Amino acid sequence: MPAPSTPRLLWRDVSVFDGLQELPAPMAVLVEDGRVALLCPMSELDEARVAGATLAGRGGLLTPGLVDCHTHLVYAGNRAGEFEQRLEGASYAEIARAGGGILGTVRATREACEDELFALARSRLEALIADGVTTVEIKSGYGLSVADELKLLRVARRLGEELPVRVLTTLLGAHALPAEYAGQADAYIDLVCEEMIPAAAAEKLADAVDVFCEHIAFSPAQCERVFAVAARHGLPVKAHAEQLTNQGASALVARHRGLSADHIEYLDEAGIAAMAEAGTVATLLPGAFLVLGETQRPPIELLRQYGVPMAVASDANPGTSPLFLPTLLLNLACSLFRLTPREALAGMTAQGARALGQPQLGRIAEGLPADLCLWDVTRAAELAYAVQAGRLRQRIFNGVVSNE
Ligand code: NIG
Ligand code: FE
Repeated sequence: MPAPSTPRLLWRDVSVFDGLQELPAPMAVLVEDGRVALLCPMSELDEARVAGATLAGRGGLLTPGLVDCHTHLVYAGNRAGEFEQRLEGASYAEIARAGGGILGTVRATREACEDELFALARSRLEALIADGVTTVEIKSGYGLSVADELKLLRVARRLGEELPVRVLTTLLGAHALPAEYAGQADAYIDLVCEEMIPAAAAEKLADAVDVFCEHIAFSPAQCERVFAVAARHGLPVKAHAEQLTNQGASALVARHRGLSADHIEYLDEAGIAAMAEAGTVATLLPGAFLVLGETQRPPIELLRQYGVPMAVASDANPGTSPLFLPTLLLNLACSLFRLTPREALAGMTAQGARALGQPQLGRIAEGLPADLCLWDVTRAAELAYAVQAGRLRQRIFNGVVSNE
């Protein structure tokens, strides 16, 4: 929490995108004690109310701090070699079946100690922060043993303690079958259920539990076992769902009242209806779609028709989305998936926060935490339109300007 001496900060004549929409008038925004204390049109500003506040900025576009609700930032090594193999014709699934892909990163990550992983992840997270991120989800999933998964989650927690960003951690033990369990997927799921989830819960290292439900990873029945155990430990669930094929994973997440179904290129209408009913967010990951050269787009129009909230995230990871510039993903969500710029920006603010079960974040409204970005643009659409570094004038984390 901010110290009581946190300065009162005032922005005048700013355009505001509040997390869901652009407000029509030039606005004034006052921040006190880490929260937005006042949000009103300039024409209605009561000068007595803001007397003594420090003028923090004038003009520009104020948005909520960006919320990147799906990342895999903690790992060692890189997969440039696999990138080359794919460009020579090998598919992601073929590489995974041959023991590469995720398992390649697992080998490098198991060898790295916590401090090494922290240093590597820190520089990736600093890139996200420099592009406006104030809340980030970080998954494990490159350890795949109890000790190694906990190691990754500890690094993720420490990132949140040492950097000016809110970190939510997700246990992704069911990401891939580790080599020592080859041919024994059910036994590995026993380990996830009987040891990994209880240990992560006991040490309060995980805020949620994720699975990769796919023919190259785990079946819906195996994922369902993971979800049931997560629920017993009070942990919300989500899934890498319908990324390469339709497995019915999104409907499964919805049945478990899960936070989000992510990727969803192969999602069908039954899955969409189930998500709409459960309030499960559709998290779109255009980076993985781009890098894997996918052609099947997520069913955006049907998601709109059913009113399923759509989040947009970087999926920053060494394999399918080595992209560490979240605003690039805003453009890709529009250019590749035909989202409107408003939908894309809402996807990385209010809807991204909803996908993390944190509806008080990702919005600008009186009383809510003051995580904000002031951009040198005049309209929200410009953020998704151009891919350009250097537009972030100020980043405000918990009511404090953190980049000046
Ligand atoms: O979100 N689909 C599975 N998991 C990650 C990729 C992880 C990797 O290839 O290292 C994803 O695409
Ligand atoms: Fe992912």
